[in-house]
Amino acid sequence: MTALLDVREVRVEFPIRRGLFQKPRILHAVDGVSFTVKRGEVLSLVGESGCGKSTLAKTLLGIHAPTSGCVTFAGKDLKELDRREIARQIQPVFQDPYSSLNPRKTVEDLIALPLDIRAQATSSQRREAVAEIMGLVGLSRRSIHAYPSQLSGGQRQRVAIARALITRPELVVCDEPTSALDVSVQAQILNLLQDLKEKFNLTYVFISHDLNVVRHFSDRVAVMYLGRVVELGDTEEVLGRSLHPYTRKLKQGVLVPDPSHRLPPPIFDGGFPDPTNPPSGCHFHPRCPDAGEACTARRPGTVRHGSSTVACHLYTGLATGHDAANEKLEDA
Ligand SMILES: Nc1ncnc2c1ncn2[C@@H]1O[C@H](COP(=O)(O)OP(=O)(O)OP(=O)(O)O)[C@@H](O)[C@H]1O
Ligand SMILES: [Mg+2]
Repeated sequence: MTALLDVREVRVEFPIRRGLFQKPRILHAVDGVSFTVKRGEVLSLVGESGCGKSTLAKTLLGIHAPTSGCVTFAGKDLKELDRREIARQIQPVFQDPYSSLNPRKTVEDLIALPLDIRAQATSSQRREAVAEIMGLVGLSRRSIHAYPSQLSGGQRQRVAIARALITRPELVVCDEPTSALDVSVQAQILNLLQDLKEKFNLTYVFISHDLNVVRHFSDRVAVMYLGRVVELGDTEEVLGRSLHPYTRKLKQGVLVPDPSHRLPPPIFDGGFPDPTNPPSGCHFHPRCPDAGEACTARRPGTVRHGSSTVACHLYTGLATGHDAANEKLEDA
């Protein structure tokens, strides 16, 4: 497998103005993120609300330009590709199909939109392509002239998936594709995404709050905290032995579908910090049970550990808790 996507030191900043005469503050929504995704792989992005997952997803889709750093897709810098070329190869599936589908368009027109933008298909090619992809995503032909309001949530998400796949992209960026759906429908849509991945040899960047889904669906996981990737590696390693104290905390918030488990405690003591004024050093230090002096003073570099990488002073050797890191590995 060769790398299809290469994300290097990507930063995305937003100027935030609090008052008319105040200087804007800079919000570092994505703060120096690097990773690669191999062809055919599923990489999941996890982390609390506001940690920058969707901003990063939109950067991969060419919706946001990085403030600095570089996204390379199939060997080409995204900056050098025009929007249409990016859209042919990289497609999104968003959380809420109702708001991403124009309510005044029929299923046929919604699904054919990427073809219409390229204006290369004849009307019979268009009709055939729509019929074929509708069959593949499990939409009955009877719904071809329906409007989004006449469809169920699951059917609408199938329309969004059909539209994403009609141009046979290589990479699909799924931003919480099942969060707005009923639990019973979520599994059907996840199974569909998995089948389509095999059928079209797709690569996914997948965002979900549900670590059980992530565990089931992805090959590798990147854990984000306040715009930074704090741990990245094989799913079983990251969600199993979890090197970073944040990943461990995040896991405590997972609802295990087993009635003998009690409800988990609230994940964290403090609230999420102000992203325009993040804590010094390691952003997680005020909430970290293992934080030492180095953690308030210096941003941890990324260290390799087994098949994972982790950005935490427990593993850089700078924290007083160096032994604590070894203990963690032993407990795990
Ligand atoms: N267009 C924008 N302008 C200003 N700030 C933004 C913009 N988009 C996102 N942000 C801010 O960037 C940070 C990251 O937001 P983002 O939506 O990427 O988080 P997320 O991880 O996707 O969260 P969620 O899990 O709630 O979807 C947040 O603090 C958010 O308020
Ligand atoms: Mg989001």
